Amino acid sequence: MSDAKKLFVKTYGCQMNVYDSERMVAAMGAKGYEETDRPEEADMILLNTCHIREKAAEKVYSELGRYRGLKEARPDLKIGVAGCVAQAEGEEIMRRQPLVDIVVGPQAYHRLPQLTDAAAKDGRAIDTDFPEEDKFDHLPRGPKARRAPAAFLTVQEGCDKFCAFCVVPYTRGAEVSRPADRILAEARDLVERGVVEITLLGQNVNAYHGAAADGDWSLARLIRELAAVDGLERIRFTTSHPNDMDDDLIAAHGEVEKLMPYLHLPVQSGSDRVLKAMNRKHTAEDYLRLLERIRAARPDIALSGDFIVGFPGESDADFEDTLALCREVAYAQAYSFKYSPRPGTPAADRAHVDEDVKSERLQRLQAQLTADQVAFQQSMVGKTLPVLVEKPGREPGQMVGRSPYLQAVHFQADPALTGRLLPVEIRAAAPNSLSGALAE
Ligand code: SAH
Ligand code: SF4
Ligand code: F3S
Repeated sequence: MSDAKKLFVKTYGCQMNVYDSERMVAAMGAKGYEETDRPEEADMILLNTCHIREKAAEKVYSELGRYRGLKEARPDLKIGVAGCVAQAEGEEIMRRQPLVDIVVGPQAYHRLPQLTDAAAKDGRAIDTDFPEEDKFDHLPRGPKARRAPAAFLTVQEGCDKFCAFCVVPYTRGAEVSRPADRILAEARDLVERGVVEITLLGQNVNAYHGAAADGDWSLARLIRELAAVDGLERIRFTTSHPNDMDDDLIAAHGEVEKLMPYLHLPVQSGSDRVLKAMNRKHTAEDYLRLLERIRAARPDIALSGDFIVGFPGESDADFEDTLALCREVAYAQAYSFKYSPRPGTPAADRAHVDEDVKSERLQRLQAQLTADQVAFQQSMVGKTLPVLVEKPGREPGQMVGRSPYLQAVHFQADPALTGRLLPVEIRAAAPNSLSGALAE
């Protein structure tokens, strides 16, 4: 038994929050905290939150309420709120929820150890600054422990696009790229710990333009350099904006073998009128032509997207345009949401579409997207795919890995094969996973 303090972290929202949570655990590790998956035994509970839709933010308050009993039983338990809700509503959280001791925004969490000290001294502490310093420079990497074979690596943060519905430019701040040498060093460090696949993260990852000795590197350049790292076998990136898909990045999809044939490229709507109102700065036709060029470079690329239905002013005809675009693209996977008005964003004050209409549109869109996804999954049956063995599955003797197209694949294998890339013959497809057997 160690006498280290225990930290419980619950993460909401996007992959960047997942990465941030890992880094916060490392930062607190330097202060003597160990991660636990049981809030009951924690000395500190940290919620890393998401503000993207109304429901996401509400979840935070209901989750906090659930810790009341724990805090009453152990008044020295510290409760912290990090992430995008902390940034957007930090002061309000402090007012509404006396249980909370610490509020830390997504650009200030390298100061979490000091904030913990301040809260211990003064009772409560809040930091939602956008400091000039690079938070990544101030975060310890954590112990040289072995890692799961697939890891996230944040290369870019923030967003300057200001889509009319979106809180991200406000919660994460302006677009900032990390210097290329730091990313390469972090990637090499991950590979030394057993990482085989790295997903480069950014709110607008393809807008990456990180400083390097020979001038700024684009994302394509960064990917090409990462591909030269021995032991790193797979590279992915997310999330991209259509307007930042430059020629070199498209070419990289055809040329860099380690770059996986899967691209999440949200379009949000298939209607030019709605795209304009959303401030997306491209048309549906621009997007479709872009996909043609990407598919020309990498014919087997699997596409994924995000959609919003019921954006203010969206008519039946606009929605039909979205269905038509989806039919044309046939996404391998997609996420779709009802428009959720977010305080402080331009669209929040516009006339809203009826909730019933939103629900009906979402249902129709999801039915179509699911049908395409099922067809894509089914098209894998009989193929042999290279699968990265990641972790044990639910059934005895079963392991789970990922195909190049980011599909979960189940098969029987020795756990000692974790981290290996092995051919798996696909025998059956479900909407969200494949199953098969190791090929000879
Ligand atoms: N940076 C990424 C996505 C950020 S948020 C991009 O530009 O695509 C992830 C997704 O959440 C968005 O693509 C959008 O589909 C959805 N989303 C964002 N704000 C929303 C809102 N107010 N209501 C409903 N969905 C929203
Ligand atoms: Fe939000 Fe648009 Fe920026 Fe994506 S590009 S994070 S949707 S503002
Ligand atoms: Fe949510 Fe913030 Fe990510 S609002 S989606 S956690 S950038």
